Amino acid sequence: SEKIYKEPYRPQFHFTPETHWMNDPNGMVYYEGEYHLFYQYHPESSVWGPMHWGHAVSKDLVHWEHLPIALYPDSLGYIFSGSAVMDYENTSGFGSKDKPAMVAIYTYHNMEGEKAGRNDFQSQGIAYSLDKGRTWTKYEKNPVLKNPGIRDFRDPKVIWHKESKKWIMTLAVQDHTSFYSSKNLIDWTFESDFGKEFGSHGGVWECPDLFPINVEGTDEEKWILIVSIGAGGPNGGSTTQYFVGDFNGKEFVSIGNDTKWLDYGRDNYAGVTWSNVPEEDGRVLFIGWMSNWQYATVVPTYKWRSANTFPRELVLKKEDNNYHLNSVPVKELELIREECYIIPNQDIKGNFDVTNTIPFKAIPLEIDLEIAWDEQPQKFGVKLSNSAGEELEAFYSGVNESFTIDRTKLKNISFSDVFASIDKAKISCKTGIKLQILIDESSIEVFVNDGELVMTDQFFSAEKFDKIDVVSSGNNISVKEAKFYKLKSVW
Ligand code: FRU
Repeated sequence: SEKIYKEPYRPQFHFTPETHWMNDPNGMVYYEGEYHLFYQYHPESSVWGPMHWGHAVSKDLVHWEHLPIALYPDSLGYIFSGSAVMDYENTSGFGSKDKPAMVAIYTYHNMEGEKAGRNDFQSQGIAYSLDKGRTWTKYEKNPVLKNPGIRDFRDPKVIWHKESKKWIMTLAVQDHTSFYSSKNLIDWTFESDFGKEFGSHGGVWECPDLFPINVEGTDEEKWILIVSIGAGGPNGGSTTQYFVGDFNGKEFVSIGNDTKWLDYGRDNYAGVTWSNVPEEDGRVLFIGWMSNWQYATVVPTYKWRSANTFPRELVLKKEDNNYHLNSVPVKELELIREECYIIPNQDIKGNFDVTNTIPFKAIPLEIDLEIAWDEQPQKFGVKLSNSAGEELEAFYSGVNESFTIDRTKLKNISFSDVFASIDKAKISCKTGIKLQILIDESSIEVFVNDGELVMTDQFFSAEKFDKIDVVSSGNNISVKEAKFYKLKSVW
C-alpha cells in the first residue's frame, strides 16, 4: 500500500514484514512457481515475543506477496525456526503423489517449561499443507522429536538424502549439530553429532543447514554445513559460519578445522537455503536475517523491525585444494535495474566525485566496479554522504590488505552502544578489485571479487544519503568498469 513502505528507513528492495517484528527466515521452499518465505514473526509488537511463522511468496525472489500467518503457537509452545520440504513421494502419508504435502518441520519452544526451570522445553513438531502453504494442519501426535534434556535443541533443517533414500534433519544442539534420519518425516533416528571441536564457539549454535553442492564448473560434489552462532562473530555479535566436507547419510566429516565466515558484516544471521529448487535451475539459494541480536530489538524502526538480506546464490570455488563458498546476489536483481549510468574507463588519481555527473543520486542503488592497479592504492571504495555531515564508507585498504565498512560517522547511532562500528575483513587484492554493492534505505551489501568476501551492514542515517563518491587515494587506479544502477522499489 502507499503509505506503508514509504516510511523512513523502509527497505525498498529487501523483504520486510508490513508491520511488527521479524527474525529468522524459515521454511524456504520452492513449489509450483512460487518461492515461499516463512519467518519468525511476532504479530503483536515490534520486539520479539510469542513466535509465529509469517508467510510470503514470490515468483522471482524479488517481488513478494504477503500472505496470512502460516503457523500459530499452540499448547506445545511458540513456533521457533525450522524448514519446509515437498514430500513428493508421500512418505508421510499427509498428501498423495498427485497432491504432495508441503511439510514444515519446526521447533516448539515451551515457555512454561522454560519458566519452570526444566531443560527439555524445546522439541520438534511438524505441520503440513495441501494448498501451496496457504493453510496448515499440525500433526496430531506432535512433537515428533522429543527433547533428551538439553536446553538448546532446535532449528531443524530437513533435506531428502537421495543415496540413502531418507530424510536427514540437521539440528542445532547447544555447541554442536546433531543429525537424525527418517523414512517418513515422523519417526526420527539419531545418527551422529558434529562440531564440538570444530569452528567457532563464541555463542550458542543455531539455525544449521546441510546441503550438497558441486565445485563450480565440475562434477566434484562437496557438502556444506552452515551454522549460525549467537555471538562472537568476526566483527562482533551474531554471525554465520560454514564447514566444507562430506556427508554419507550418517556423518558429516569436515575438511579442516578453521572457521569460515559466510559474511563478515554485522547484519547477516540465521540464513539458510531454499528446499526443492528445480534441478534445471540448480542454484543454491540463500537468504539471511539482516540484523544482529546485539541491537535487533532497538534499531530505530518502529512500525516494523528487521529486513532480510537480498537473496543470494552460493557458489563453491576450489583453488589450490582449498574450498571456499562465495555468495553473490541472485541474477533476478536485473529485474529491478532501472537506469544505468556508466562512467567511462579512465585512469584516476585522487578523489573521484561522481555526484555531479550521475543523473540520479538516490538510493536504492547498485554500484558495480571493476578496477585494476599496478601498485595497491592506500584506499579504494565508495563513500556515501549528505548535508547533515554523515558518512558511510566501504573501502579496500592496500596498506593492510583488508576491506572495511565504517558506520561510525552516522548521527543516528545512540540506540545501541555497539552499533557504530568499523567492520573489517582481510582480503588481498594485488592487481585490482571487483565490487558489487547494493544500497537500500538502511543497508549496504558489499560483494568483493565475485562474492569471495561479503559484508552486510545496516545503517540509519539521520538524513538520506544523496552524494556518492568513488574514493581512491595513493596510487593510480584504472577503471575497467563502473556502472551505477538506479533500482526500482519492489513495494
Ligand atoms: C535465531 C533463533 C533461533 C530460534 C529463533 C527464535 O535467531 O534464536 O535459534 O529458533 O531465533 O525466534
